[in-house]
Amino acid sequence: MLRPLKILFVTSEVRPLIKTGGLADVSSSLPAALRDLGLDCRILVPGYPAVLEHCGTLTLVATLPTTLLGPARLLAGHMPDTHTPVYVLDAPQAYQRAGGPYLNTDGKDHADNAQRFALLSQVAAQLCGPDNALNWQPDCLHVNDWQTGLAPAYLHFAGHPVPSLITIHNLAFQGVYEAALLSILGLPSESFAVHGLEYYGDLSFLKAGLFYSDWITTVSPRYALEIQNEALGMGMQGLLQQRNHHLTGILNGIDTADWNPGSDLHLTHNFTYRATAGKRRCKAALQAELGLAQSADAPLFGVVSRLTHQKGLDWVLQIAQGILTQGGQIAILGTGEPLLEAGFRQLANQHPKQVAAFIGYDEGLSHRIEAGADLFLMPSRFEPCGLNQMYSQRYGTLPVVRDTGGLADSVSDGVDGFSFTGETAHALWLTVERALAAYHDRPLWRRLQQTAMRKDSSWEKSAREYAALYAQLIAQSQH
Ligand code: ADP
Ligand code: GLC
Repeated sequence: MLRPLKILFVTSEVRPLIKTGGLADVSSSLPAALRDLGLDCRILVPGYPAVLEHCGTLTLVATLPTTLLGPARLLAGHMPDTHTPVYVLDAPQAYQRAGGPYLNTDGKDHADNAQRFALLSQVAAQLCGPDNALNWQPDCLHVNDWQTGLAPAYLHFAGHPVPSLITIHNLAFQGVYEAALLSILGLPSESFAVHGLEYYGDLSFLKAGLFYSDWITTVSPRYALEIQNEALGMGMQGLLQQRNHHLTGILNGIDTADWNPGSDLHLTHNFTYRATAGKRRCKAALQAELGLAQSADAPLFGVVSRLTHQKGLDWVLQIAQGILTQGGQIAILGTGEPLLEAGFRQLANQHPKQVAAFIGYDEGLSHRIEAGADLFLMPSRFEPCGLNQMYSQRYGTLPVVRDTGGLADSVSDGVDGFSFTGETAHALWLTVERALAAYHDRPLWRRLQQTAMRKDSSWEKSAREYAALYAQLIAQSQH
């Protein structure tokens, strides 16, 4: 029998240990799906307080020789839900502190983020070496976003013959720091070049990953095309065009156990595409929970999102009055930019029976909104993949999305959701009007819901694509 491919999957967040966005969902569900396919995939994550607290039993495997924010130890355990093996990088000076993974308690970047994530990257590369104290050497290194972008560079200069793959979850975050850090981070001066990690006179962690990795993936096929153009390339389009033959988009899947309306423990009632009575009860329960008018017929729009410019929610604020005039209701859950938070709070204060805004983070409520809403608004300016539109479909909540990135790849207009092109509140409004017309046509609505709920958004197909890609990279590196 062939031995299973060994993959080290490096990430700065993984649910349920620590999460700020979709990266955490993917970092949990993709490794689990790869293991289901028979690959030996293991996760490496920083030892933030929440990780050490929620990871269960951890055993010491190694004390690591690092030059950054030391001392550091490597602990081994298993993910509490999926049981995927996980290595926790326990470096108290780097990770044991108040605040989130990236921001301090004032909402500003931790001042030493460059060192903190260079450390994670350095350790990832070390673990690809032959004498790494693990008794387990990966065949392929899979890193994610800028926080792990230096790993392919460290690996390149260490000369370990292990291929590396970087996944772009969001090109907007690039890890750009002053060039003076180069020697502190332990990178050779030759790396500071256009053909290297230099980026307009600074150094960029993401560019390092895009340049030194053997392959680049994005989290949807559409986004892989979009980022090769100036509009969404965020300054990296030139390099991405050059690397075009080593760049593919693989659509994210969703965790169908966690997001299953038939068994979801966050809900007051469960339902399936065959028996949807529970969905109506979930809507009534959500209206009661949020203090909205108890109306079974009012079209209820849900939003669960980071409140940032990317997500296009300023357009939702602009069209909200129109939705309310048509008898609609809106339930928003999110945190982020103060202006958007204030805008939604004000809307809810003005219309307490029609609008509810929960400014905060609440996993249970996010499930109850997905289940209780009729429609889900996600008009993102750009969206590398997006997960909520797929969660919505599974819960029979039809998404209204902009035709971009993963939204374009997962929502078919008039089939399992609604989508619009253009970048204006008016374009969104015209599509909301179409969605409302469909909502009031009960047989049509039922058909759309059924199609959306029956769609297969599980990881299986995409995990197979990753597995094939790893196998290809490993085969190439052995020639
Ligand atoms: P992004 O990663 O850009 O934020 P995604 O759609 O990929 O967007 O993933 C967002 C994830 O974060 C989803 O699992 C969503 O349910 C969750 N989420 C976002 N905001 C909140 C919130 N305020 N409370 C609970 N979950 C949230
Ligand atoms: C990023 C993107 C989002 C994607 C997620 C997981 O946070 O903004 O579109 O779904 O990563 O890949």
